[in-house]
Amino acid sequence: MQFSQLTQCIDGEGAAAWDLHEVAVQAAAGGEDVIVLSVGDPDFSTPENITAAAIAALQQGDTHYQLVTGRPEVRQLIAERFQTPNTGALDADNVMLFAGAQNALFAASLCLLNAGDQVLALDPMYVTYEATIRASGAELVAVPQSADSGFRFDARAARAAITPNTKAILITNPNNPTGVMMSESEIDDLCALALDHDLWVISDEVYGELVFEGQHISIAQRPQMFERTVTLNSLSKTYAMTGWRVGWAIAPGALIAHFSNLGLCMLYGLPGFTQAAAHAALDQSAAASAAIRTAFKQRRDLVFNALSGNPLTPILKPQAGMFIMMDVRALGMDGLEFANALYAATGVAVLDAGAFGKTAYGWVRISYTADDSLLTEACARINGFIAQRQEHVA
Ligand SMILES: Cc1ncc(COP(=O)(O)O)c(C=O)c1O
Repeated sequence: MQFSQLTQCIDGEGAAAWDLHEVAVQAAAGGEDVIVLSVGDPDFSTPENITAAAIAALQQGDTHYQLVTGRPEVRQLIAERFQTPNTGALDADNVMLFAGAQNALFAASLCLLNAGDQVLALDPMYVTYEATIRASGAELVAVPQSADSGFRFDARAARAAITPNTKAILITNPNNPTGVMMSESEIDDLCALALDHDLWVISDEVYGELVFEGQHISIAQRPQMFERTVTLNSLSKTYAMTGWRVGWAIAPGALIAHFSNLGLCMLYGLPGFTQAAAHAALDQSAAASAAIRTAFKQRRDLVFNALSGNPLTPILKPQAGMFIMMDVRALGMDGLEFANALYAATGVAVLDAGAFGKTAYGWVRISYTADDSLLTEACARINGFIAQRQEHVA
């Protein structure tokens, strides 16, 4: 039997990196002495008031079809929080709820891109991007952000990558895997690029509220940018709600109308009880999300302090998010070899950052999605492993 060409476009890459993660998760479930630091799923429970809102909604019979775009009161909340003088007044018609930012990105790909279009994406980038862009027949063009620059946006490289087929630029701000947040001048350069070449900007901001230092800038809030920007976000990371699958896109009304048509034939709205939870999250859970952010910052500091001592394996201090990057090239291994050998020797699972793009080849991504004592133990094992390898290299 034959399958569609689409199936080839969405065929996964970087699979080897995830193989190790899956082995580690199974081993942990079987009670083995492993520490899984290879995933981007906050280990905290969803704040109780949010879960309670969903349970109450279920008990009250909130189990029926919903508006395809999502409940107006949730979308209105999102719109009002996002609006600034530069965006102009926003309302529910500028927001559509999706089953996570991933789902919203897929919709943006289908509603903005045609076969043959090119989308610039900043490398390293989240692993699903390529397949999601290719699903519409478009091509993803990776724009390197070099490790030597600290994985920072390179406006010159982006400009050089533009062709007559370039339709959009896809950014992750703050970035996964690097934890880098775009500075004001980088955002300005990106705006100039988009305006000069009439590009859409797709801005994935799922880590935008897990920022430890500095000010996160949403590019859609810069002058003249709202009309050409789709901002993606979700409850997943901010409120430890990855499994709830609640995210959204904020965009000009005309695009939301297309999203609505797509939603009608693709998803048919989110469950009412998860929307009740979303309302509780967005309206009544600022303290809980602040506590999650504070905990991640403390963990970031713990892991950074524990792993930053060795000049042979430099690490990058993330400004946001839940990952720290380590350069293992001087140990004579690439990221995948390091991750596999580390796991075999110590039971600590980290991820080959090369799965996120060529610029991160030779780096590993370490998640701080475990409690302090596990993180302390994991860092001791990582340091011990590096010390052994160092003898080997010397
Ligand atoms: C950069 C980035 N974008 C999107 C997602 C998917 O998020 P969601 O759970 O909202 O679909 C993730 C999840 O890890 C991510 O890291």
